[in-house]
Amino acid sequence: MVDSDFMQQDFQRRLRNIPRLGMGLSVDVYSPDLFELVNKLRKQGLEPGYLEVFKATTTALKSVRKALPDIPLAYHGEGLWITQPDVQESTFFQRDVGEMVEQLNSLQSLWLNHECAMKQMAGYSFGTYVPPLYMRLSAEVVAENIVAIQQVMDQQGCRVDGTAPLFLLEMPPLTYFSAGTIPIPHFFRLVTALVPCGLVLDIGHLWTVYRYTAVCQRVSLEQFVEGFLDEFPLERVVEIHVAGLACHESVGESKDREGHPEWIDAHAAPIPSILFTMLEQVLAHSNLASLRAVALEVDTKPIEMIVEEYSEAVRRFSFLIQHTMARGTVADHSMEFMPQSVSVREPVCEADRQKLLDDYARYAQVISGQAGMTGLEWQESDSDASGVTRYRTSYVPYEILHWGGDLSKMFPQTCRDLAERGVCLREFVVFWFRSPRPLTGSYDFFLLKIERFLEFVVERVPDIQVCVQQECDILRQAYAQANEVREPVMDTERTR
Ligand SMILES: [Fe+2]
Repeated sequence: MVDSDFMQQDFQRRLRNIPRLGMGLSVDVYSPDLFELVNKLRKQGLEPGYLEVFKATTTALKSVRKALPDIPLAYHGEGLWITQPDVQESTFFQRDVGEMVEQLNSLQSLWLNHECAMKQMAGYSFGTYVPPLYMRLSAEVVAENIVAIQQVMDQQGCRVDGTAPLFLLEMPPLTYFSAGTIPIPHFFRLVTALVPCGLVLDIGHLWTVYRYTAVCQRVSLEQFVEGFLDEFPLERVVEIHVAGLACHESVGESKDREGHPEWIDAHAAPIPSILFTMLEQVLAHSNLASLRAVALEVDTKPIEMIVEEYSEAVRRFSFLIQHTMARGTVADHSMEFMPQSVSVREPVCEADRQKLLDDYARYAQVISGQAGMTGLEWQESDSDASGVTRYRTSYVPYEILHWGGDLSKMFPQTCRDLAERGVCLREFVVFWFRSPRPLTGSYDFFLLKIERFLEFVVERVPDIQVCVQQECDILRQAYAQANEVREPVMDTERTR
């Protein structure tokens, strides 16, 4: 038996533990308030088939499980940078995986969904997801890291029915560009040939793949989707996401020559109707044989908009989704094969690992504007150079200066002092990416911003060190307190 057949059968065995959930929601505990949302839905006679809950504190996730005993739950992880060749060497990896398993167990989660993307690479940090280098070697590294995580879940995952949660890998969005030497569907086919993981296909992410690769100048969206689905390992797709898209505030409303808007992934924004048209096309594809769930991804979205969009999606798609999920039934019961644990044929050799680390360091420098677009990953990419320019001149500076904490609001006095001395905040962006830095903790963009801004100010204008230090202390204390008190308060009125 070849490895890919072995992996497919192991996947089928694991898939049997996941019931057909139908339509549900992918949510955050706090934003918007999950219990308020569930109450509003119930008042409209809507009970989600399941909830996929984003990483929060373990206590908060336990509260969710306790308050919603009848709703199946799944987990959207964060911070395990599985695209990275050195992630398992990080001092935080074991701890982060341990915390993730604890959270899976607290929810009694059916799966771990994680983006095939990173916010940190080779010592450089970003605020939002960066897609992997779409190359053969990086697919092998992703597979190796998934194996390590699935092994821990197999050993320590403790659902009451004795089954382990399944690793689901989500194809990430493109934010104006793509880099690599192989087509995106081939990348995911390489990964699934090496590991028995499932996949999450996000329809909005798929739209961004169309928009930010040259294919949108050659074929219609419908033709693109058809070709993509024929190549993508659709038989591994367990969950589908549908979320909002919007133009980013750093860029504004604009369209390309073909009239396609410059949308990126935006969960707070309305779901454009074109994504539901694409969803119909995906559901109709005969290779979609393992589907278990379809979620609207609605974190940070106003509750009224969620209720409206969800009720409309249920009305339009419930029957079709049930019909699609029924497709896999025959294959499910025909599998007798029972491997004991996952494994990868051969580990990636040290020379290849180092080469990929160098590639990722160059990638970080290119997309942050610190280096030119050299290397095969740019020459052979199907992406337009103007997308990288857009990303590094508008998106990245916005991310460092405003996203996840606006610097002028975080450090009002220090920013006034810097302005008086003629120091422009854009210099901080260059400082941020000037050189790689070893990680000092699990990923937390807010704390990282505080740490790096202090260093920047002390280096650039040492005589305002006392002021910036005071503002850092206030921010860190407030952040710690906010995290302590953010446990959801459960009362029967709210959850009935
Ligand atoms: Fe998603």
